[in-house]
Amino acid sequence: MATELTWLGHATWSLATGRHTLLIDPYLDGNPAAAAKADEVGADYILITHGHEDHIADAVKIAKRTGATVVANYEICNWLGKKGVEKTQPLNLGGAWPTPFGRVKMTLAFHSSVMADGSPAGSPGGFLLTLGSQKIYFAGDTALFSDMKLIGAGGLDLAVLPIGDVFTMGPDDALEAVKLLNPKAVAPSHYNTWPLIRQDAEQWAERVRSQTQSTPHVVQPGGKFSL
Ligand code: NI
Ligand code: MN
Repeated sequence: MATELTWLGHATWSLATGRHTLLIDPYLDGNPAAAAKADEVGADYILITHGHEDHIADAVKIAKRTGATVVANYEICNWLGKKGVEKTQPLNLGGAWPTPFGRVKMTLAFHSSVMADGSPAGSPGGFLLTLGSQKIYFAGDTALFSDMKLIGAGGLDLAVLPIGDVFTMGPDDALEAVKLLNPKAVAPSHYNTWPLIRQDAEQWAERVRSQTQSTPHVVQPGGKFSL
């Protein structure tokens, strides 16, 4: 089963797998680098890594329009419920949920998490998706951590890693992350949204090619690749 990934800009990804569409960290209408508007994207499931506005901004309106189930940590699911989102699946770090499209596990992330209105947003996380025989890791916003070696131990077809620096790993630490995770392919995320997190992704991809076994996929916002 092929999986098609589309980078919609910043940390927002759309993932088409079988008959399901997954939307990760929807931040579109307020995102200067977005390739789509919130009312243009489809979703059966919306996955939220943490409560920061650049990851959850459009989740409520897209969930209400599409009827998608939102997968997030317990605190964020509570917050979404108060905003009128009907279908949520709460997880917490280390926990997994079997879904019609595969298995979703919430992984560690070293970052912070609070809602824009000051509500608590639990612990930040990442997602390890098992889609048929494919494993895809979305690191979320995180610093480098050595347990990435454990996340990669079961084999990864793709790791999606932040490279923007300032708020997350930068290019050097993301390169170390690739070495720990050892994924077959890697895609950079969370960069070039604002001048503060501008990075040369092609140059990073060249370092990935020369120093690791992983194949980098660098696309522009709106660009796609398949696994
Ligand atoms: Ni964040
Ligand atoms: Mn962020």
